[in-house]
Amino acid sequence: MVESNLRNDKSYELFERAKKILPGGVNSPVRAFKPYPFFVNKAKGSKIYAVNGDFYIDYCMAYGSLILGHSSKEVLNEVKKQLVKGTLYGTPTPLEVDFAEMISKLVPCMEMLRLVNSGTEATMHAIRLARGFTGRKKIIKFEGCFHGSHDYVLVKAGSGATSFGTPDSLGIPEETAQNTIILPYNNIQVLEEAIKNEGDNIAAVIIEPVIGNSGLILPKDDYLNRIRKLTKDYGIILIFDEIITGFRLALGGAQEYYNIKPDMVTLGKILGGGFPIAAFGGRKDIMQYLSPSGKVYQAGTFSGNPISVTAGLYTLQILNKKKDEIYPKLEKICEELRKTLVDLAAGYHIEVQVNNIASMFQIFFSPYPVIDYSSAKLSDTHKFYIYFQELLKHGIFIPPSQFETCFLSIAHSEEDLEKTVNAFDSALHTVSIKDRV
Ligand SMILES: Cc1ncc(COP(=O)(O)O)c(C=O)c1O
Repeated sequence: MVESNLRNDKSYELFERAKKILPGGVNSPVRAFKPYPFFVNKAKGSKIYAVNGDFYIDYCMAYGSLILGHSSKEVLNEVKKQLVKGTLYGTPTPLEVDFAEMISKLVPCMEMLRLVNSGTEATMHAIRLARGFTGRKKIIKFEGCFHGSHDYVLVKAGSGATSFGTPDSLGIPEETAQNTIILPYNNIQVLEEAIKNEGDNIAAVIIEPVIGNSGLILPKDDYLNRIRKLTKDYGIILIFDEIITGFRLALGGAQEYYNIKPDMVTLGKILGGGFPIAAFGGRKDIMQYLSPSGKVYQAGTFSGNPISVTAGLYTLQILNKKKDEIYPKLEKICEELRKTLVDLAAGYHIEVQVNNIASMFQIFFSPYPVIDYSSAKLSDTHKFYIYFQELLKHGIFIPPSQFETCFLSIAHSEEDLEKTVNAFDSALHTVSIKDRV
């Protein structure tokens, strides 16, 4: 876009104002992209509408939160009914019991749980609880996994932390970072060694079973099984961070998909049907260490608020009712998109890798298979930027970083997909041309 057009765009004006009052002009780093992000005033189904009247087919879907699409009518109807009954009580509600029972029924390891407000809170408290339960200090996390933006886990973190070159944030005391052991993903030998050396000091292994925060990275065959066995042998709490994969890979998340039961799980995103809520939970003997039944403290004014709980409850009910239709259908579409991307890229002689699973996919501009953080970092982010911008010009919005993942929803129609394939074609064509000049 030329400079004069930029100035006529309402989003440009808003970004100029926003930069003066919000650091970087945004309220979460991944939302900022060059030359400036489009500002949105509504979204419905598969589409997101910018303030200047443009609209986009959305494959960001609020970073994976909206598997039913934007503004699901069924969910919003229930939320409207709840709104007039009160938005926050500060006391227990029948709704939260129904919701917790529903989550426990769907997620294999979830014997008991606590509701919180964000994924960051969920992983922070899951780790504290694992430490309290085991009496051990250290945790293991994997390069490129993102578990939210608190001190225990913001070391070699993926997502915006990697996109903006701050995988190890300033402001985290060395003593805290020293208790987090960072290992490469998909490498069972280094994990075995670390556990053999330090197993008695390790409270928890936390992992995104499928990484959605360094682009999309899948676990090698048997990798998760071997982690399960190792952690069990050494009395280490295995935490699956399923904030993306929960209700996404399958209704029961990655643990259902791979048939592996972790000790604890964190959930968020889809759990709230577009409203802020998250959860952590798992084995009952561990969860009972949580206050007020136990001595690990955790609390929250907005935890289990009836609006988010209502949205989450109805979202899970819809998914449960339609699971046999939704999950296979999305998986099939996703596989077709992968094949299309691979074929188109080959036609334009661009070396790419396309990783996909269930309703998640991502393209990497790289000749090397992407199996961990190091290989993800080898991809050509400049080519990705061209691809992203071209898609935007063609009315397709994907997350604006190589180190994120694209998501499908049940609201994406045949027509949307057709338009998307044409846009992929043009975008890859442009990448091939700009690469030559
Ligand atoms: C796997 C994973 N864990 C934790 C988080 C943090 O969740 P929140 O942004 O709700 O704090 C995210 C956010 O993207 C995530 O993808």
